[in-house]
Amino acid sequence: MTAERNFSTAVLRWFDSSGRKDLPWQVSCDPYSIWVSEIMLQQTQVATVIPYYRRFMERFPDIATLASAHIDEVLHLWTGLGYYARGRNLHRAAVEIVVQHGGHFPQSFADVCTLPGIGRSTAGAILAFAYGQRHPILDGNVKRVLARYHGVSGQAGTRTVEQHLWALAAAHLPEIRIGNYTQAIMDLGATVCRRRRPDCKSCPVADSCVARAQGNAETYPVRGQRRVLPVKEVWMILLRDRRGLVLLEQRPPSGIWGGLWGLPECNTGLDAGSWCRREYGLDVAVDESWPTLRHRFTHFQLDITPIPARVLGENPQAMENSRTVWYNVHEPDARGLATPVKRLLQQLRTLS
Ligand code: ADE
Repeated sequence: MTAERNFSTAVLRWFDSSGRKDLPWQVSCDPYSIWVSEIMLQQTQVATVIPYYRRFMERFPDIATLASAHIDEVLHLWTGLGYYARGRNLHRAAVEIVVQHGGHFPQSFADVCTLPGIGRSTAGAILAFAYGQRHPILDGNVKRVLARYHGVSGQAGTRTVEQHLWALAAAHLPEIRIGNYTQAIMDLGATVCRRRRPDCKSCPVADSCVARAQGNAETYPVRGQRRVLPVKEVWMILLRDRRGLVLLEQRPPSGIWGGLWGLPECNTGLDAGSWCRREYGLDVAVDESWPTLRHRFTHFQLDITPIPARVLGENPQAMENSRTVWYNVHEPDARGLATPVKRLLQQLRTLS
């Protein structure tokens, strides 16, 4: 047997004994359910995804229902899962599938790759799971498995190393049981060949793993210099009117938390009272700020200082519109909220 065949045979045998086979999206070959799960599983662990996936599929059981939904409702069901562009892209892609493919998920690799939010690896995984098509995948977990197994010593993320890993992923593909193999190699990366403290004793391919032989599995994939994430600071104004309602604004469609509802944000160090007067024409009393909380994004960290404030007069009529709402924290409705905002509103609820 060739080395490649040995690898996939061992991985498939491991799948039969130890792989996950009863996840909610594994019960059918419906490409829509598989697609939704693969998008949610990008950058998010299985255990976190499951409840979100169930709620999403209950509300949007098929492509047509998702395509005809309002984006606010999609983002509402995404609240807390993070990386909201995934939810927006899923919705856009559903509309595209209805318009361009008569509502049927496409079967050609090239068509699938053109859908918003679907890259080469996700397209390969969906087509393997749904139709048994033979495509390699290369998500973060698979990269780690292959980099260790082959002792790929170049720096991860560079073009050369990416190409090398894609070639290795393709070379290992078995002829049959593509769906099982695809699931198996993802699971192997997630549960055995973990980033920290890999469980080499349970690994089906440990015997021929280069990193294992070198005794330095954790050093793969080779990372470049770790960047220190820049920290940005912002004040979020918890502005309540005389009825106790909180002012929320919808964020612009792109950028962080695009399309989600959030609290008014102002630069730190300003006079928050004057800022509210200037922005909203409201006379407000500013109370003592709450402790700062840190929210991590991929490229930076955001230090959020919540500033509670009270409207002193009546709200002007003109204030509420399609992008601004006075929100009742005791009667939450179906709108997407940025995670720290959701938390702050929950805190407000327990205080009032
Ligand atoms: N990550 C991405 N897709 C996955 C899947 N199908 N199972 C487990 N982890 C995944």
